[in-house]
Amino acid sequence: MSVKRPEPFESAPSVEIRFILQDPQAITGKGERDIVIRARRGDSILGAALDAGLEIEHACGGVCACSTCHVYINSGEDDLSEPEDAELDRVEEAPALQRNSRLSCQCRILGNGPITVEVPAWNRNAVKEAPHGSSASEKVTG
Ligand code: FES
Repeated sequence: MSVKRPEPFESAPSVEIRFILQDPQAITGKGERDIVIRARRGDSILGAALDAGLEIEHACGGVCACSTCHVYINSGEDDLSEPEDAELDRVEEAPALQRNSRLSCQCRILGNGPITVEVPAWNRNAVKEAPHGSSASEKVTG
């Protein structure tokens, strides 16, 4: 599925994002729980994750019409766009809601990071397709 995403401000990925995967097998098809990537400022967390092969669920295609892209922002929230009312309304539908819950398709990367994002275990996607081939975000470790 294609995903709606904002236009990045920069061409080279510079912002470090650490993903903690509660169920890595569901997101990457592998067992690694801790993955660090670099993303472009202006992009969304979801867009950067997909580019790096992290298949976070995104049933509505990134238009804030579902809550399947729900993540926890463990640190670096000040480097992200503020949630708008539509996101706040929608994220309340997500299971296992926490104070640091966000919809990853609505989180635009504005600052320099680093940012830590935890992907809940219930965010399942049986790795329906091969990891995206784009190199817009590059994997640093893992
Ligand atoms: S992908 Fe549907 S709200 Fe983010």
